[in-house]
Amino acid sequence: MKGNKKDSSEKPIWDRTSSNISMTRPGRLMIWLLLFISVTYIIYTLKIVSTSHPCQEDLTSYDSDSILHHQRPAKKALTVPVTAAEHEATDLNHVVFGIAASSKLWKHRKEYIKIWFKPKKMRGYVWLDKEVKIKSDAGDQENLPPVRISGNTSSFRYTNKKGHRSAIRISRIVSETLMNLDSEEKKKNVRWFVMGDDDTVFVTDNLIRVLRKYDHEQMYYIGSLSESHLQNIFFSYGMAYGGGGFAISYPLAVALSKMQDRCIQRYPALYGSDDRMQACMAELGVPLTKEIGFHQYDVHGNLFGLLAAHPVIPFVSMHHLDVVEPIFPNMTRVRAIKKLTTPMKIDSAGLLQQSICYDKYKSWTISVSWGYAVQVFRGSFSPREMEMPSRTFLNWYKRADYTAYAFNTRPVSRNPCQTPFVFHMSNVKFDPQLNTTVSEYTRHQDRHPACRWDMANPEEINNIVVYKEPDPHLWSRSPRRNCCRVLQTKRNNTLWINVGVCRAGEVTEVK
Ligand SMILES: *[C@@H]1O[C@H](CO)[C@@H](O)[C@H](O)[C@H]1NC(C)=O
Ligand SMILES: *[C@@H]1O[C@H](CO)[C@@H](O)[C@H](O)[C@H]1NC(C)=O
Ligand SMILES: *[C@@H]1O[C@H](CO)[C@@H](O)[C@H](O)[C@H]1NC(C)=O
Ligand SMILES: *[C@@H]1O[C@H](CO)[C@@H](O)[C@H](O)[C@H]1NC(C)=O
Repeated sequence: MKGNKKDSSEKPIWDRTSSNISMTRPGRLMIWLLLFISVTYIIYTLKIVSTSHPCQEDLTSYDSDSILHHQRPAKKALTVPVTAAEHEATDLNHVVFGIAASSKLWKHRKEYIKIWFKPKKMRGYVWLDKEVKIKSDAGDQENLPPVRISGNTSSFRYTNKKGHRSAIRISRIVSETLMNLDSEEKKKNVRWFVMGDDDTVFVTDNLIRVLRKYDHEQMYYIGSLSESHLQNIFFSYGMAYGGGGFAISYPLAVALSKMQDRCIQRYPALYGSDDRMQACMAELGVPLTKEIGFHQYDVHGNLFGLLAAHPVIPFVSMHHLDVVEPIFPNMTRVRAIKKLTTPMKIDSAGLLQQSICYDKYKSWTISVSWGYAVQVFRGSFSPREMEMPSRTFLNWYKRADYTAYAFNTRPVSRNPCQTPFVFHMSNVKFDPQLNTTVSEYTRHQDRHPACRWDMANPEEINNIVVYKEPDPHLWSRSPRRNCCRVLQTKRNNTLWINVGVCRAGEVTEVK
């Protein structure tokens, strides 16, 4: 367009000069004329040159820069007062954790906190109702955040018949944490307050990956809902469930702290701390920003179905670990969660990410949940089926059925041939020679129902090895499930699988 316009403006000028030449007669006149023509030509050319530049600039600014032009003054105003440190990407040192705990359950629950909290790298406080004994021999001093005692809330009304008034104390943790910071800490750039319960376990690297998406200078209330549709109806579809954890940006924490005590007085009949928080958020007009990697896990029984088919988003937290069965068989709950910390360290972005592939020779469907488990199914299941969590877990409300989940699930198959063979992670390491992670999965030896299908029996496999390059930038790209490929081997009892970014044109096609 730009080029065309220039051409068309040049042409008439050239035409005019050439027509001038054709009208001249020989002799002196001609020389004068030629001189005149040359001068006019030069003047015209100069004019074109001098006007074409601003003209070009106008065009570009009209084409694409106009939006930028509008933004420029605002940008300048923002950049003037901030220091270089402000432009750093959000990291763990910008977060202050507030952990809601009770003295009654402290002895047991502190073990969950120790799994993920690293006092040397993180800031935060455990907020308790009263003093507890900090045992030096159990490594409490070195491995737990400092303990704080919540302020006296006996002057607040609490009228809910089913709940406990500790909800008031817990709902004030963000405000109390903010007030608890000394000015030096504030200067050290607090950007986010992250709340969790004493039975919440965070994958902090993924928490940071999520927080980096948001501008900490704006007001944000980030978290996720309950798995239970009924819970979301009773409480709110606009509430961040406290156990799954939630994040509040610094400016929002400041705004909240200025009004929260008055706000809480207006809702004495609410049940918990997180609904009190949401009531105040609603008064502030700040909606929930949903990040479904925070997991409240309002379910009973076995989390397997949920952990084996995680949505394509970073895994941020898990909760209700005392309510559900241990996530690895034949282990205490705390040890089972600790086991997950090895893959967490080696490739946190890929933790519990699902990939689906087919062994076309044996007609099996394989679903990998990296760092946790691999399932082998006889026959072919489409990716859209495998993406749905199987209902290995039970509803929070015992009488509610599968229609009461706030997401799609699939039933656990009753056909003995369709019972998956489950291999749990037994070992994960990084192989520096191969420059890749090597995770092994072994089958928990439980009896498998007999199947008469005439096809390869996955029972012959007792070990699965998954190769996967660490991919710390997985979440800097648009979300996409990794691809997996079954590697052909001569050994019948081991399955080798490669997991990684899908290659150009690679699709998980049902065989
Ligand atoms: C809290 O305050 C009330 C009255 O203001 C007082 O009776 C009570 O003893 C206080 N509780 C604690 C734990 O200090
Ligand atoms: C469970 O763990 C114990 C001790 O670690 C071990 O002796 C036992 O064989 C395990 N049972 C199964 C079924 O794996
Ligand atoms: C190892 O893999 C990473 C990511 O795939 C890559 O950036 C790095 O260059 C590799 N290192 C070597 C020594 O091959
Ligand atoms: C693997 O299984 C095939 C078919 O069942 C059999 O023919 C072969 O001998 C087995 N290989 C090994 C190494 O056991």
